Amino acid sequence: MSETPISLSRWLIEQQRIHSQIPASLRLLIEQVARACKRISRAVNKGASSGILGSLQTENVQGEVQKQLDVIANDVLLEANEWGGHLAAMASEELERIHPIPHRFPRGEYLLMFDPLDGSSNIEVNVTIGTIFSVLHLDEGVEEVEARHFLQPGRRQVAAGYCTYGPQTTLVLTLGSGVTAFTLDPDQGGFVLTQDQLRIPAQTREFAINMSNLRHWAPPVRRYIDECLAGADGPRGKDFNMRWIGSMVADVHRVLQRGGVFMYPWDRREADRAGKLRLMYEANPMAMLVEQAGGLAIAGAGRILDIEPTELHQRAAVMLGSRDEIERLQRYHLEAESGAA
Ligand code: AHG
Ligand code: MN
Ligand code: MN
Repeated sequence: MSETPISLSRWLIEQQRIHSQIPASLRLLIEQVARACKRISRAVNKGASSGILGSLQTENVQGEVQKQLDVIANDVLLEANEWGGHLAAMASEELERIHPIPHRFPRGEYLLMFDPLDGSSNIEVNVTIGTIFSVLHLDEGVEEVEARHFLQPGRRQVAAGYCTYGPQTTLVLTLGSGVTAFTLDPDQGGFVLTQDQLRIPAQTREFAINMSNLRHWAPPVRRYIDECLAGADGPRGKDFNMRWIGSMVADVHRVLQRGGVFMYPWDRREADRAGKLRLMYEANPMAMLVEQAGGLAIAGAGRILDIEPTELHQRAAVMLGSRDEIERLQRYHLEAESGAA
């Protein structure tokens, strides 16, 4: 007889009981997020058959046209997490302002942030998309939650994770002591443990970056990629391969599974913007996951997790993945800053 799979609920309870790692309210929060992801997964799976593909007439706070599924995923997450009593407020890529828990529900001690649907441009072409989330603790003694209470550096996250909607629905989670992956079993209707203590190999021959932006990058990024492209004949002495899915969630999932480097760096097109990706609900949770799996995540010379945020929807440059490669990239940034390169 095969072993009974370990459900997400059982795993969370065991973390709480055996390792006294997590309070019950954080466990319930994660279970609610997972429940919401299951519902989003079903909506994504139905695709065009349920008439929910395509764009709306609306734009989000970033000025991006919203897809129907962006809004559905956002509503599912808000609804699922409102009434549980473990949250004080939520913030989302799709909402300009924070969403405090309505007074009719009990208020909890956590703050939840999410990118409800990452990789929206891949929805219609049936390529992996996902949900990214980040959990912070609300400071003691706060009466009315405001956006400024979310502005904590990423190293203070108490949990982070994502769920991919692809050939399989996988939930990848960190509570601050390693990274664990769960797969949705459609027969059971729940997530089961499939990988514990994920580790990113320190070395890799694979990078992910949107090469069409090459001419706009800063010199350290250009130097790193040029050296990768030079392959076995160049200073790296080995050939590299490239992948670019266009959904950060799917690209980072590959990095967590087999190593690699994922980059969305600053570029000259919008010079006063730190990057394309959003710090609070894209860069920070992914940086925490990658570092918990032994990798590294930088925005340039410094770590993403050390950025002191000033705005809810601020952008960040993102370079993360296999440790040896990201350390090299960090060195190139430091050398450029000191004028040595
Ligand atoms: P979102 O769909 O949440 O707006 O995020 C899309 C992001 C990210 O997932 C991806 O890596 C990147 O945009 C792709 O950008 P390019 O189209 O510039 O390659
Ligand atoms: Mn996104
Ligand atoms: Mn999104």
